[in-house]
Amino acid sequence: MSSDTPLSILGGLTAETFLRDYWQKKPLLVRGAFPDIASPLAPEELAGLACEDGIEARLVEAQGPDKPWQVSHGPFDDATFARLPDREWTLLVQAVDHYVPEVAALLDAFDFLPRWRLDDVMVSYAPPEGSVGPHVDSYDVFLLQGSGQRRWQLGGEQPDDAPIVSGVDLRMLERFEVTPGEDWVLEPGDMLYLPPRIAHHGISQSADCMTYSIGFRAPSTDEIITSFADYLGEMQSETARYTDPDLRPIEHAGRVDDDAIARLRTLVLSVIDDPAQMTQWFGRVMTQPKYADQLAPLETPTGSDAITEGLAQGDYLARALGSRFAFHEENGRATLFTDGDGHDCPPGLARLLADTTPLHATTLASHLDDQALTLLAELVNRGSLHWQDETPQDDDA
Ligand code: SIN
Ligand code: CO
Repeated sequence: MSSDTPLSILGGLTAETFLRDYWQKKPLLVRGAFPDIASPLAPEELAGLACEDGIEARLVEAQGPDKPWQVSHGPFDDATFARLPDREWTLLVQAVDHYVPEVAALLDAFDFLPRWRLDDVMVSYAPPEGSVGPHVDSYDVFLLQGSGQRRWQLGGEQPDDAPIVSGVDLRMLERFEVTPGEDWVLEPGDMLYLPPRIAHHGISQSADCMTYSIGFRAPSTDEIITSFADYLGEMQSETARYTDPDLRPIEHAGRVDDDAIARLRTLVLSVIDDPAQMTQWFGRVMTQPKYADQLAPLETPTGSDAITEGLAQGDYLARALGSRFAFHEENGRATLFTDGDGHDCPPGLARLLADTTPLHATTLASHLDDQALTLLAELVNRGSLHWQDETPQDDDA
């Protein structure tokens, strides 16, 4: 996709204009971003997911059984849903793209952003007046209305220390003043982009309000520093340490002098300032699965021969829904990052694998040498790739 193609999901803006004027800067309302949307999920199906073990789900009740704005965590059961009133609550289910292929497919429309920035698709259902209160999020989000109507009110950018209502389970803003002109009712297919820290309040206006939050993530500086330091730390030899063969006579044995600090800085910078290691670390960290236990390795490992056979009989290899793939290319070689691992890989194959389109014998034909077959078998064994025997929807068009 070229950056100067007008994108309907951006209301006809090009990716270039959106990134320059809106991304991480200001909200954008797009009417009819997904004009033909039919919510891939019904409210009952969302409730079904929220009853499953291992799926992250929350229920927010404005008039909870124990207190106002009560939050409870799943898995829920039928009795929970049976006791709920017909207004003023919200069910939120995280990472629905990991369980529902049609929800995962929505993400292809966001390919103008780096996929490693993507967190997940959270889906909410709310009867009339259901809301999670006015709040800010730390991340960029696209709020897509899947069915029903939701009123969104925005209240401008908030400082880190904006006062929060005390004594409730939610982080709700104590003060929320609607910015004039930033108050809309979103219809199915409409979408609102919000950069981090913009106050927002979404209130369901119908009995079938489903909102899809396509959430992006950005590691905190704290996470970056500690995680990179851990990665580098493990690579250092145990015998390498601070040295000072240049030590000069000192004035006071109790002093930590500037020369010691300069030696430390030289040591630290020589280890840290290494773009190649930074790439290897970053690709691994950013492709770690959101839920490590969702990656299901094969019980009986497969070999390269089985890959050749499967492709020969017309089967497709597809990424497992929750798997994260990325690649980095340099000097004619690539590293393919998959679910927290890094693999040396020819760039053409890395690009194919880091795309979401399922792969078949024809697509892979020019790449299938021994190294590629071994890699594909390893990815199938780890649970990052799996076989799909039907023609993927993508190929229908
Ligand atoms: C919702 O879907 O109810 C809340 C989404 C959000 O405000 O981030
Ligand atoms: Co929010």
